[in-house]
Amino acid sequence: MPQQVRAVVARKVKSPVEVVTIAVPDPAAGEALVRVQACGVCHTDLHYRDGGINDEFPFLLGHEAAGIVEAVGDGVTSIGPGDFVILNWRAVCGQCRACRRGRPWYCFATHNASQKMTLDGEALSPALGIGAFAEKTLVAAGQCTKVDPAVAPEVAGLLGCGVMAGLGAAMLTGEVGPGDSVAVFGCGGVGDAAIAGATLAGATTIVAVDLDARKLEWAREFGATHTVDAGACDPVEAVREITGGYGADVCIEAVGHPEVFEQAFFARDLAGTLVQVGVPTPDMRIELPFIELFGRGGRIKPSWYGDCLPSRDFPMLVNLHLEGRLPLERFVSETIALDGVEEAFVKMQRNEVLRSVVVF
Ligand SMILES: NC(=O)c1ccc[n+]([C@@H]2O[C@H](COP(=O)([O-])OP(=O)(O)OC[C@H]3O[C@@H](n4cnc5c(N)ncnc54)[C@H](O)[C@@H]3O)[C@@H](O)[C@H]2O)c1
Ligand SMILES: [Zn+2]
Ligand SMILES: [Zn+2]
Repeated sequence: MPQQVRAVVARKVKSPVEVVTIAVPDPAAGEALVRVQACGVCHTDLHYRDGGINDEFPFLLGHEAAGIVEAVGDGVTSIGPGDFVILNWRAVCGQCRACRRGRPWYCFATHNASQKMTLDGEALSPALGIGAFAEKTLVAAGQCTKVDPAVAPEVAGLLGCGVMAGLGAAMLTGEVGPGDSVAVFGCGGVGDAAIAGATLAGATTIVAVDLDARKLEWAREFGATHTVDAGACDPVEAVREITGGYGADVCIEAVGHPEVFEQAFFARDLAGTLVQVGVPTPDMRIELPFIELFGRGGRIKPSWYGDCLPSRDFPMLVNLHLEGRLPLERFVSETIALDGVEEAFVKMQRNEVLRSVVVF
């Protein structure tokens, strides 16, 4: 029997989201039904609402979540009812070319639930194949990663997307190492996680770049050693100056804007790395002098989900948090109810929060 639960849906492009009742099927083979305990509001949810990802409305939003497995379908052995899990959008297939070559973080065929959750009989498109602004959600079993239940759900859920994307952008994609200099452009949840990741990885100079003074202040709490107000000066010049005239070894773009990409490109030292983690919209273009791309050398690396492998990285990061070495709780600016998501988007755009987290 499908269950009726309350959930946040975006029905039409750029229209306010609504709390509605949706139908969630019982788990079939390979699927899991999860009672969501907490789900963070990520900028990617807003991109979905605004039609920036695709036009497969209606969307069931929410994807940074943790909860308790309620039931599993046939053949599921990795998790069972009662397990505390973080939901992920990289349930790797183990069979595609990337997986077979030992690079599952590039998996081309990640798993999602095969049955659809519905609104008045119409199939919903769950954000990033999750859809967790819902009392219960249906996912592929591989989308559930078991972690130590000692961690608070509103903190754990954030590892499911933005915080993992930022940590991984620095630690995995950017391969930040001891003594490196790092500049992070855009200090929202993702950018601050990149700063925390750079700190863990041993970077000695970490420059936070943002337009908002509050954001720059928070960035310091995650380990930024310097801050740059991009509205008040040329951020490329500022990063160069802070890094002894060289530019940073690793620049991380966590905004998703062509102008910021360009700044990050030129703020690198020669042979430096640019990590693109901010999500562009389909209409955006970048234009660069070809000779600069060649002449500066180095690497330009888009980072999806911080190149993470949830089964490997989530338990490790939760343990670091429980040991007091990764202040994940600082990302939680406020906890809200399910009907507060639209207002949370407004607060996000006004730069008032790092993460609003829906708790159930
Ligand atoms: N690649 C991935 O896997 C992945 C995962 C999650 C989120 N994202 C993307 O990362 C981006 C950031 O997400 P978030 O949740 O941190 O968003 P956010 O809105 O919380 O933060 C964005 C920050 O960028 C700052 N900013 C805006 N314009 C700027 C400029 N010109 N120069 C410097 N700073 C500027 C804002 O002041 C804000 O602090 C989004 O595009 C989001 O979709 C990517
Ligand atoms: Zn695969
Ligand atoms: Zn996200």
